[in-house]
Amino acid sequence: MSEICKFDRRSFLKHAGVATVASSIGASVSVGAQEGAARAAPAANHDFDEIYHRIGTDCSKWDGQIAIWGEQLQIPMGVADMDFRVAPCVTEALQKRVAHEVYGYMTTPESYHQSIIDWNERRYGTVIERDMLLDSPALLPGLLAAMRAFNPPGAKIVVQTPGYEGFFSTIRKGFVIEENPLREVGGVYEMDFDDLEPRLAQDDVHSFILCNPHNPVGNCWDRATLTELGELCLRHDVVVFADEIHCDFVNQGQEYVPYANLADELVMNSVTFKSASKSFNLAALKNAYLFSHNPEFMERIRAVGDNATINSLGIIASQAALEEGDDWLDALQAYLSANASHASSFINGQIPHMTCNEPEGTYLAWLNVEPLIERIGAIGIAAAETAAKAPDAEPVTPEEVVERYLIERSGVKLNPGSSYWGSGRMRMNLGLARPLLDEALGRIQRAMQQA
Ligand SMILES: Cc1ncc(COP(=O)(O)O)c(C=O)c1O
Repeated sequence: MSEICKFDRRSFLKHAGVATVASSIGASVSVGAQEGAARAAPAANHDFDEIYHRIGTDCSKWDGQIAIWGEQLQIPMGVADMDFRVAPCVTEALQKRVAHEVYGYMTTPESYHQSIIDWNERRYGTVIERDMLLDSPALLPGLLAAMRAFNPPGAKIVVQTPGYEGFFSTIRKGFVIEENPLREVGGVYEMDFDDLEPRLAQDDVHSFILCNPHNPVGNCWDRATLTELGELCLRHDVVVFADEIHCDFVNQGQEYVPYANLADELVMNSVTFKSASKSFNLAALKNAYLFSHNPEFMERIRAVGDNATINSLGIIASQAALEEGDDWLDALQAYLSANASHASSFINGQIPHMTCNEPEGTYLAWLNVEPLIERIGAIGIAAAETAAKAPDAEPVTPEEVVERYLIERSGVKLNPGSSYWGSGRMRMNLGLARPLLDEALGRIQRAMQQA
């Protein structure tokens, strides 16, 4: 067994310090890789409790955050990827491919597209014909192509808030954000159709971005809600862009309803965006796809998309995952669902100054930290820090004050809700081994007891 696998929690956390990053680089990567090779044989059971050491791999979640926060950062729960060792079928397929040492131009094999078609039909009953499907190097470039296909420069694109920050940055590449805030009723988020309709009715609105399941609030939207939304969009001639990248993460008792499984007239007014990258943690391997049942829509998107070929190793990894990864993903889903209920009940029962609704989908929890903001005077601190900055600088938000407070006192990093236009909230990534999750929760608990 490798050094990495022998890590207990304490030594792992100790090694997470920036001072030790450099010395751990070589050991961690090579040892981890060898271990992966040894395990590439079909794995009957999946040990998601294993703490797999990522530091020194240039990963955004650990290394990127250690670069910002230094040694005080111990457990990053920000960037939306997972810390688990990848599915064995992925490692096996990649190893087979890298044994051939040429990476010239590649023609995307039809078997890759077929694996997407089969996955969607097998798991969700969504029928995709080959000519409805388009490759994209990641989800957001595909979304941007669709925005350009349906909107003149400067058009408003409707997005629900709190919302994934990548939507905001993508819209800003030539368009204007039209915000449709979700309504929070008794801690539960709902779509606000009264607010939405006049926004859709505007002459310069042609597209609406749906996030299902929703990052960051965690809702899996039900059929009735999606149908009402779809009918409103159709009535106002607004195309629905359904980002369903989180669709494979649905917690126990919940359901993901694909937009493309609604009534035909609604489906014909939509484009769906997906990727194996979130489900199987392949984000850096860069490939995603979009599809629409409306041939005219596909023609418009093809005309403006860059039609780039996608990453060859990403094709290999995604195809292996979609063809052979069902068992691994099912086991992971169950594990993450347990993480979600465990984290939310621990936070609600044992951590002062914050609460958490158990997410229905995604591996992200959306925490209400309003009591903590009040307790530590985060609004005043943020205002004072903003006043000390240059007048045109981005203001400091109370949620950023909470982010820093938690890192300084607990070593745990959460993402500030203000990044998602969510006030008084923080986003916690639950895609990590349970022992590390417990460590993080314990650290936050101790910090909150002293707040
Ligand atoms: C809802 C949503 N869409 C898109 C993305 C980004 O996908 P990609 O990296 O494939 O562009 C993310 C990443 O977290 C996401 O949460």
